[in-house]
Amino acid sequence: MDGTVQAPFAGVASRAARLPAELRATLLTPALLIDLDAVRRNVARVLALLGGAPERWRPHLKTTKCPAVWAVLVEQGVRHFKVATTRELEVLLTWLEDRGVAGDVLVAQGLGPPAARRCAQLARAHPRQQVSVMVEDLEQLPWVEEPLGLFVDLDPGMGRTGRALAERARTLELLRAAGLRLRGLHCYEGHLHGPFPGRAAALEACFGELLALLADCAAGDIAVGEVVSSGTPALHHVARRAPLARAPGAPRHRLSAGTVVLHDLRSEQENPELGLEPAALVLARVVSAPRAGRCTVDAGSKALAAEAGEPIAAVLGRPELVAATCSEEHLPLDAPPGAPAPGLGELLELVPRHVCPTVNLHERALLLEERGLRWVEIAARAHDWGCAP
Ligand SMILES: Cc1ncc(COP(=O)(O)O)c(C=O)c1O
Repeated sequence: MDGTVQAPFAGVASRAARLPAELRATLLTPALLIDLDAVRRNVARVLALLGGAPERWRPHLKTTKCPAVWAVLVEQGVRHFKVATTRELEVLLTWLEDRGVAGDVLVAQGLGPPAARRCAQLARAHPRQQVSVMVEDLEQLPWVEEPLGLFVDLDPGMGRTGRALAERARTLELLRAAGLRLRGLHCYEGHLHGPFPGRAAALEACFGELLALLADCAAGDIAVGEVVSSGTPALHHVARRAPLARAPGAPRHRLSAGTVVLHDLRSEQENPELGLEPAALVLARVVSAPRAGRCTVDAGSKALAAEAGEPIAAVLGRPELVAATCSEEHLPLDAPPGAPAPGLGELLELVPRHVCPTVNLHERALLLEERGLRWVEIAARAHDWGCAP
């Protein structure tokens, strides 16, 4: 593990310093803190990369899971969204409907029959909202009830879901079978993480294949309305490249980065060119000083996602502290030789390595913004349970 990896946020101002002293003294930890002003700046930065065009973005809401954060996207004109779970879908549709906003939601997750049925039930209950799901095989078409739209899921080499991008003949068969319900193609290249310019070359190779498929569609009179691609690692390159296709009737190309809204340590290390700020932090307290130069805080893998490698967090304002391996409720932090470790009871601000599953671990977040402070529910966290008859 390399201690220098914590340096990226060395210049970022403390968020907790903006909390009232009494709250800092009494707050139960671990607690999720979301800086809504930083969210606004991140969203503005992404929209600037997209040439100021919110219709080019279909952010994945699995990162944020919280209507109070989604409101920033909607205020900035974003109307297209991706979700992964039926819980996210239900919370989003209800919230959009309550606000009188007509949205367009793609459930970007391989679905079994019960989840597909649940998506259709939710779509029928929210007729102002457009809801689509993904299929990769003819066998799945009968599972998808009205009024759901269809995206065909393509695998550009990630090996997770979708029909291999190169299998054009079978894909065309599926696209034809989808008929009038076909909305578009989904092609998520989330496996392309390497350094630039190699990452850009790999993305271009993927788009080359997509263009070949789109040409076949045009030749076969198959109307593809939209192509959805690209998470955060692809955003900087793809947002600035030429549109996928320029011909009249060419599909709309939307990018689906989601981590960018809150940002995290891993994304800062991989994508510093995006110029984003950490907007979600886990506040934790020093609960032990097991030896000189080490302190342990009360946020382990049940408060900070631990599946994306180490260190699981960086300490804002204390870039010299290096996180050791966590346990469920504890994270030891080491100061460099000769430097003092934080004292017992001290409140520290941890930037998660992987923010999406970190947010999912918390029932509520403390929402901080210029005009005040409030607790909000992470309403779309966890999974639905039961049956979809
Ligand atoms: C299908 C899909 N689309 C979009 C995204 C968003 O990507 P990112 O988290 O890199 O912004 C993800 C992330 O896992 C994803 O699985």
